[in-house]
Amino acid sequence: MKFTYKDTCGVKQSEIDALVKKLSPYLAQLKTASQDANYSTDEACLHLPFDESLRQLIAETVQKKKSEHLREVMVVGIGGSILGSQAMCQALRPSGIPFSFYDTVDSRKIITAIETIKRLAAEERQLLVNIISKSGATIETHANGRVILEILKEVFPEWQKQVVVTSEPESKLSSWAREQGIDTLPNPPKVGGRFSVLSAVGLLPAALSGLDIKSLHHGACEIDFNEAAASAAIIYLNLKQGRLMHDLFLFDSDLENLGKWHRQLVGESLGKDGQGITPLVSMGSVDLHSMVQLYLAGPKDKFTTFVTLERGEAVKVQPMDAGYDDIVPYVTNKTLAEVMAAILAGTKEAYQKRALPFVSLDLESASERELGYFFQFKLVEVMCLAKLMGVDVFGQSCVEEYKIITRHILEK
Ligand code: PA5
Repeated sequence: MKFTYKDTCGVKQSEIDALVKKLSPYLAQLKTASQDANYSTDEACLHLPFDESLRQLIAETVQKKKSEHLREVMVVGIGGSILGSQAMCQALRPSGIPFSFYDTVDSRKIITAIETIKRLAAEERQLLVNIISKSGATIETHANGRVILEILKEVFPEWQKQVVVTSEPESKLSSWAREQGIDTLPNPPKVGGRFSVLSAVGLLPAALSGLDIKSLHHGACEIDFNEAAASAAIIYLNLKQGRLMHDLFLFDSDLENLGKWHRQLVGESLGKDGQGITPLVSMGSVDLHSMVQLYLAGPKDKFTTFVTLERGEAVKVQPMDAGYDDIVPYVTNKTLAEVMAAILAGTKEAYQKRALPFVSLDLESASERELGYFFQFKLVEVMCLAKLMGVDVFGQSCVEEYKIITRHILEK
């Protein structure tokens, strides 16, 4: 992944360097956490990509669950328990088994799931349900999971074999699963939902879909901590100048879920004590036709990261007939990638003309390695940002607040 910021980021190199220096003791702490195989630190998630035994466990689970009769994988979870795997499956389009994801409570979607389960049972095919919840007690996951499991139990005699529960080992959900003889995977207690993409939470769906989780982890191991700290410093300095929003402007339709993963990471990690950065997700080039008027001419309260993904595809706009070709002649014989690159360059120039600050993250291939790098880079970046802002990156008391009130309403 290439990180470019010089001349566009709106702040001086000396200011960035000063903050990276200030962060250096914390960076040392993060590097130590990344080597702690006991997952005992608050930053335990940074060790995940170094955990070979975890990859081994995932490989064994995949081997046990994958069969020629397996036709669908249903992933049930919400927030940090599902956004990472959704992002990977969308960005890398693995060609394996079809996946469906269940997060919010949506009767129509669940009705389709019920029909799928019944159809697969009738066809003597199989499916796998991966229920993911660190706490094991999130309302949406529990409600969706229960409806799905009830049908599974009704139509498959050995339904337990078609379920994997990913949760904290000590959660009630894990205990129940063990009692039922359902396979469980651990979500380490110190790894919170939005930090768990490189744990079993993200790895099992990724591996089942055919993605190479070793490369994903290896990409994450390669990150440059100082560069992630520099990125955090740039965002922080812009925040101090009143740029309260951070727009991740993704120039690839299949990166929308990656944008949503990032939105959650920033929203939940930094929104504390009256502080925060409002994360936006914009898609290139569609949002040039909906949001860019606002971005260019509206309040100068946004900082932008442009993200691209090199797919190495070369679909060409061929000449058709002179009349049609002459309407927009300059795209003739250009590849769609060249057209998109020109649109992005044009957008960046327009931002520069208006002194709107931005940085660029260019994923150099549609690969597990690049995605792993992106995830780990952003995890370190958000930890550094929280450090600079003086907020606790790991808690999310307000998410718990709505959960408690909802529980009281349902208990009435
Ligand atoms: O990042 C977080 O911690 C949250 O978004 C959680 O992932 C989300 O609330 C779901 O929680 P759980 O995994 O306990 O079901």
